[in-house]
Amino acid sequence: MKKYIVDDIPVDLHSERKSRHELLQEYVTDSKREGKDEHFFVCDTGDIIEKYQQWVRLLPSVKLFYAMKCNPDKAVLQILADLGASFDCASKNEIETVLGLGVNPDRVIYTHTQKRVTSLIYAERNNVSLMTFDSEMELHKIKSHHPKARLLLRILLHEKFEGRETFGNKFGCPSFQIRDLLQLAKELELNIVGISFHVGSGITDPGAYASALKQSRKAFEMARETGFNPNILDIGGGFPGEHNTSDFFQKITEILKETLDDLFPPEECVDIIAEPGRYMVASAYTIVDNITGKRLFPTKSLERENGNEPEKDTNEAAGNTFMYYLNDSVFGNFLVGKMFNPMNIPHVPKLFKAGEDVVSHESVLWGFTCNSVDCINASVRMPELDIGDWLYFEDMGAYTKSLSSNFNGLETPEIKYHCLETSWLQVYPDTHKGKE
Ligand SMILES: Cc1ncc(COP(=O)(O)O)c(C=O)c1O
Repeated sequence: MKKYIVDDIPVDLHSERKSRHELLQEYVTDSKREGKDEHFFVCDTGDIIEKYQQWVRLLPSVKLFYAMKCNPDKAVLQILADLGASFDCASKNEIETVLGLGVNPDRVIYTHTQKRVTSLIYAERNNVSLMTFDSEMELHKIKSHHPKARLLLRILLHEKFEGRETFGNKFGCPSFQIRDLLQLAKELELNIVGISFHVGSGITDPGAYASALKQSRKAFEMARETGFNPNILDIGGGFPGEHNTSDFFQKITEILKETLDDLFPPEECVDIIAEPGRYMVASAYTIVDNITGKRLFPTKSLERENGNEPEKDTNEAAGNTFMYYLNDSVFGNFLVGKMFNPMNIPHVPKLFKAGEDVVSHESVLWGFTCNSVDCINASVRMPELDIGDWLYFEDMGAYTKSLSSNFNGLETPEIKYHCLETSWLQVYPDTHKGKE
């Protein structure tokens, strides 16, 4: 059955839970029948609904502002808006998009600490008042263009934690400047309503949140001592969202609840908000790519090129490495893996052509463009595939589509949405949305 998320976005509803693999296989069969070789996304909107519900269940007192920079797909925004989420926007365009969905301005936080003047004016005219800052210059800018703004001071965390993107010193006020900055805000008669931080995107140590909360507590005290009455704590993003991370997410929620109870007890009536991006969308999207080219490359030449003399006469050293050319790219949906991947997490594809007894070979997955950095995976073992075969990569919802370009004429992939009917009915019980 087809329904519509918004008028131009259909969603396939299925009455029984199917495996991801089975569903993808059906979409690939459709593509083959239609003679297509374009890559496409498959989005499980039910996954987004379940993630939202999990958040509400595990962190009922933390209000969710979805960081739309992570994936501004209109379907995601609409579903989250309908679920009652709020939004973290980092630019005028993002604010405009969210307000265009009919979201009330008090469900928006403007989280760029260095805002353009025109964007500040836009925010002021459209009643978006909650925003972050981290510097003296920004306070003067806000005083001139949005003096009634409700401000959260973003603090720089002392402790750095390993993660996919840790922001370095780009944002956040260092501890030794906090008091002066608060004092300046007081002199300018600005309204500081709280503190914010971001532990880093894709962090691996759940203790990061406890450490950041301790620092926030001190900043809260300083704000009170300066004469403000802070009542909002923004704990940022950084929550994991890929498959198999739900235990880690649960661990984070336990640490958060325990530390919040201790440092920001309910009787203090501090509103806790968060800005998850990756958590909401990473696992919902799968990209399905097509092999458009293949060649065999002598493994010995590859090793020499990499500065290594082949030592042993393994099968591969004696033979060939399989090079495949895909219709996706690091300039497309794999940029995040190339640029923001200090932990070097490889993109490993899943295949439709399976079979445990199939011999696997050393393979390289090249991207579509004519640029040599465009390599999706430089070393992966796979059974031999052919031109026209399809493969897929899971966990492709976060910082993929939003960073991709059309370099070399790369197409923007279509997104095929589907949802388990029971999940859909939880958001749209009267099935009023769109048409059959
Ligand atoms: C201010 C801010 N909040 C939230 C996020 C979302 O982070 P994540 O996707 O790790 O949850 C980001 C990501 O860059 C950010 O800059």
